Amino acid sequence: MSLSNDQKRYLEEWMDFLKIPSVSADSAFDQEVANAAEWVKNALYKVGCANTEIIPTKGHPIVYGEQYLDPKLPTVLVYGHYDVQPPDPLELWDSPPFEPVIKNTSIHPDGAVFARGACDDKGQLFMHIKAFEIMKKEGLLGCNIKFMIEGEEEVGSDHLEEFVKNNKTKLECDVILISDTGMISKEQPSISTGLRGLSYMEVTVTGPNRDLHSGLYGGAVSNPINVLCEMITKLRDDQKRVTIPGFYDRIDELSKTEREEMAKAPFDLAEFKESIGINEVSGEAGYSNEERRTIRPTLDVNGIWGGYIGEGAKTVIPSKAHAKISMRLVPDQDWNEISELFTKHFQSLAPEGVTVEIETHHGGYAYVTPTDNLAYKAAHQAYLDTFGIAPIPSRGGGSIPIVPMFENELGVKSILMGFGLDSDAIHSPNEHYGLYNFFKGIETIPKFYEHYIRLQKETA
Ligand code: BES
Ligand code: MN
Ligand code: MN
Repeated sequence: MSLSNDQKRYLEEWMDFLKIPSVSADSAFDQEVANAAEWVKNALYKVGCANTEIIPTKGHPIVYGEQYLDPKLPTVLVYGHYDVQPPDPLELWDSPPFEPVIKNTSIHPDGAVFARGACDDKGQLFMHIKAFEIMKKEGLLGCNIKFMIEGEEEVGSDHLEEFVKNNKTKLECDVILISDTGMISKEQPSISTGLRGLSYMEVTVTGPNRDLHSGLYGGAVSNPINVLCEMITKLRDDQKRVTIPGFYDRIDELSKTEREEMAKAPFDLAEFKESIGINEVSGEAGYSNEERRTIRPTLDVNGIWGGYIGEGAKTVIPSKAHAKISMRLVPDQDWNEISELFTKHFQSLAPEGVTVEIETHHGGYAYVTPTDNLAYKAAHQAYLDTFGIAPIPSRGGGSIPIVPMFENELGVKSILMGFGLDSDAIHSPNEHYGLYNFFKGIETIPKFYEHYIRLQKETA
C-alpha cells in the first residue's frame, strides 16, 4: 500500500496516541489516562474542532468537542473511548504493548499496527478525528458534529452515565455514530445491528476457618474449591443451557425468517476453529455457531482462584475459593433481574459445610439497531461506496452498555460502524489493527455524513 503524505502523518499520530498506557482499570495509570484525554483534546483542537474541553468526573475525564454550524442542520454525536484494557499477560506479547510497531500478517498483508488499544478503541476513534479533519479541509462539513470520547468504557462507563443524565441538552443530537465494533471480513463488510448485554458477578465460597492440612482433614470436610467447581458445573445442563430459573423468560426470540436471514452471512466453521486453535466448537444445543455467539445468552467463568498456586506442591485444603462469572445477555433480559436470579440460584446450590458470598460487579442491557432508519441506510451506502460491496447487517456478541443507555436517556439510536476484525485480538496479547481497515474507515466515515445529510434533505 502506498501512502500519501497525509496518510503517513495520520499513521504517525495514531502510533503516538498508542504510546500512552491509558489503562482505566488500574489506578497506577491514572496520570496516563489523564494524559490520553489531553492528547484527544489536542487532536480535536488541531483539526479545527472549535469548542473542545476536558470534563473532569469522579473517575476518568470525558473529552467533549463540538462543531456547530446551524440549528436547522442535523446533529451527529460521535462516541468513542480512549481508555484501554490492561495489557496482561505481558509475557505473551511479541512486542511491548505500548511501543506500537507495524507488522504484516496473512490477514493484513499491507501491515497492521500492534499495540494495546490499536483497534479497541484508539485506532477506531482516531479515524473519526481524521475524517473530521478531511471534511473540514475540503469544505464537506454539512451538519453539526459533537464528539464525546470517554475514559471509562472498559470499566463500565459509570461516570459517563451520570454525565449523560445531567447534560441532556448539551448532548442533543439526531443520531450517535460509533466505531467500536467489528465487521465480518475485509471482503465482506458488515454493520453491527446489535450488542449483547452483560451481568458480571463475583462469588466466594468459604469452608473451614483456616487453610487445613489435606492429610489430617482431607475426606472429612468440604473443600471450597471442589464445592465451587461442582456449583459452577450445575449452572449449565448437558444441552449447554443455563439452569438459572427464569433466565430465558424474557427473551425476545428471533423469528424463523430472521434466523434464516442471519444464516446467509458468510461463515467458515473450519476457519473459525483454526483461527483459535480448537478442534471442535461447543455451545447451546439447537443453535448455530454464529447464533450462539450473538443472539443467545451465555454464562462463562472469567477467572477462578484459591488454594496453592505457587511453585511445586503444597498439600492443603483452602479456606476459600473464588470465581468471576459473567453472563452475556440478549433482548429483553434485564441485567439487574438476571443478577438477582443468579444470586438466588447460586446460593441455593451451596451444600452444607460452606458459606457463599455473591457480589454484582457491573452490567448493561443488550441493544438492537433497526435497519430501516435513515442513519442505517446512510451507513449502508457509505460502505457500498468505499468497499464496492453491500454491507450485511450483523448482530454482534460484545457489549457497550452505554449504547442502550443513550437510547433510554437521550432517546437516540446509535449506528455501529465498526471496522475491526475478530482476529484483531482485542483485549488479548498482540492486539492489532490493519492499516487497510484504518484507512478504509477514514474514507468511509465522510461518506456516511454525505449520505446522511442527503437522505435527511430528501425526506424533509
Ligand atoms: N469495543 C468493545 C465491545 C465490542 C467489541 C463489541 C467488538 C462488539 C464487537 C468494548 O470496548 C468492550 O470491550 N466491552 C466490554 C464490556 C465492558 C462493560 C467492559 C465487553 O464486551 O466485554
Ligand atoms: Mn471498545
Ligand atoms: Mn474493549
